[in-house]
Amino acid sequence: MITELLAASEARLRPLLTRLPPSLAVRLYSLSRRHYLSSFVDRPPHRSFDPHGQERTLWGLQFRSPLFNAAGMFKNGEGYWLVARQGAGAYLAGTTTHRRRSGNRRHGVAQPFTPYPRSGAASNWLGLPNVGHRAVARRLKRVQRRLGCPVGVSAAICPDPRLGDEVKLEQLTAALELYEAVGVDFLEINESCPNTADDPGGLEEMRSRLATLAERFLARRQRPLPVIVKLSCDTAEDDVSAVVKSLVELGYDGVNFGNTSVDYPRHRAQLEDAETALYDYFTRAFGGGVSGRPLKEDSLRLVSAAAEHLGNHPPEQEFHIIRTGGIEDAEDVRRSLEAGASLCQWYTGYFEAFSRHGHDLYRRLHEDL
Ligand SMILES: Cc1cc2nc3c(=O)[nH]c(=O)nc-3n(C[C@H](O)[C@H](O)[C@H](O)COP(=O)(O)O)c2cc1C
Repeated sequence: MITELLAASEARLRPLLTRLPPSLAVRLYSLSRRHYLSSFVDRPPHRSFDPHGQERTLWGLQFRSPLFNAAGMFKNGEGYWLVARQGAGAYLAGTTTHRRRSGNRRHGVAQPFTPYPRSGAASNWLGLPNVGHRAVARRLKRVQRRLGCPVGVSAAICPDPRLGDEVKLEQLTAALELYEAVGVDFLEINESCPNTADDPGGLEEMRSRLATLAERFLARRQRPLPVIVKLSCDTAEDDVSAVVKSLVELGYDGVNFGNTSVDYPRHRAQLEDAETALYDYFTRAFGGGVSGRPLKEDSLRLVSAAAEHLGNHPPEQEFHIIRTGGIEDAEDVRRSLEAGASLCQWYTGYFEAFSRHGHDLYRRLHEDL
């Protein structure tokens, strides 16, 4: 198919393209990512793969595989049948916000993004572009499910510094109610986007936001609807126990470690030398979040710390850990499950695998699992 062909040829060119002057490489990648994604989501494969042997029932929902896309891939609720046919264990839309957002723009670059192909990593400073909760809810309402591939959506507080906290929380509560009403199977609250002008504050502020949402939404759910909170891969290991304890006490159903990182100096050391000039340019010019292989050990450590806490303090409700960050292959999924994760999500590794295996990426991974 054309999208597989494009991904495979682009993968061969990538190491050359990233040798261009950094500002040109970022311009090229930011533009081509947007164009490529829009044709990618509209072209589901004709063939279908239904994974077996790794099915699990969590929160009463059937997942035919523990692996599915991370938030940000299908921001506007498109592409369900693409991943459902590929063999994903679930589908995650969003992150969505109250208002439609066109994303960040700086130095003439819209939604800045660059891959570091030799290092299995990427940087993005997209700024949560999406068409808004309401439009995505309308789309998700119409999605016909494949058995074992439930529909989730990631939602966030509108990162507009001009709005007060109370308004933002009201908007997010209304969005969660809307997603509940249109039949979404699970929700993820994005508490960890590093790419907006909003300052979300520290752990105390987060706890207070999540407590308000728990009171206004979790306690009033009209049907079983798991709500997961996605945190950053930069979460300090020492804070994991307290954070997980809070989430359990507030009535949340899971935690996801995690989102992209802003720990630029540490991740710089994990990149191939040929890609540090591009990395330095991107992080200086835009900042953004680092994704992919550099997050692998961090996300695993955070999952292990969360599992240890839950082992010592078993929650009364069904509570699951999700691992996101640096998942590339079956070995990563296996290590995640061994460390205590129930599900895994991938983004950077997904596109790398797609460029090698096309729509057979889940089939290949399941053969090794
Ligand atoms: C281009 C891009 C856009 C992203 N958009 C979102 C988003 O909208 N919401 C979110 O929670 N995470 C978003 N992420 C973060 C991913 O969901 C994931 O947490 C992160 O990339 C780490 O996983 P990975 O190493 O498999 O890429 C985005 C990541 C990338 C690369």
